[in-house]
Amino acid sequence: MPDERTSPDLTTPSAADPPPAPPERGRDDAAVCVSIETEGDIVTARQKGRELAATVGFTATDQTILALAISEIARNIISYAKRGTVTLGRLDDGGRCGVSVVAEDQGPGIPDVDLAMRDGYSTAKSLGMGLPGAKRVMDEFDLTTVLGEGTTVKMKKWLR
Ligand SMILES: Nc1ncnc2c1ncn2[C@@H]1O[C@H](COP(=O)(O)OP(=O)(O)O)[C@@H](O)[C@H]1O
Ligand SMILES: [Mg+2]
Repeated sequence: MPDERTSPDLTTPSAADPPPAPPERGRDDAAVCVSIETEGDIVTARQKGRELAATVGFTATDQTILALAISEIARNIISYAKRGTVTLGRLDDGGRCGVSVVAEDQGPGIPDVDLAMRDGYSTAKSLGMGLPGAKRVMDEFDLTTVLGEGTTVKMKKWLR
């Protein structure tokens, strides 16, 4: 990971600086949407997540952690909603970079989110980290669900 603090240009802001960020640091240029319906799709999503995390500069360990969290929410899509999507994107808020993961489905929704987010709760006896584990390893986690309409899980992990 190159240390940007060594670049004098970044530490001398000028009033004449144009407001838009350079295109290569944009938010959506690396966005990739993976349809999730089969076991193979889970593998694809986690691999693409790992690749993206590597290009953003995450350590191998953090790439693995991110891949695990992606697996969990992608598996939930198949288990509970049959199909959906996982969208991966590069984050850049000007100061930090990171990866965003959005899992969306039009499945049955989650009747009791507090219960679903409880450690040790599982209706499928999975050995994975589950939703609470995914929340723990990510920096931001937001679950929105509407009964009969579907579920969206938005997660972010920032480089530190
Ligand atoms: N996308 C989803 N749609 C509907 N229900 C879900 C979804 N994701 C999770 N759930 C519900 O939340 C519970 C907890 O999920 P999770 O923590 O992954 O544990 P597990 O999948 O092992 O049961 C699940 O058992 C399921 O009832
Ligand atoms: Mg699960």
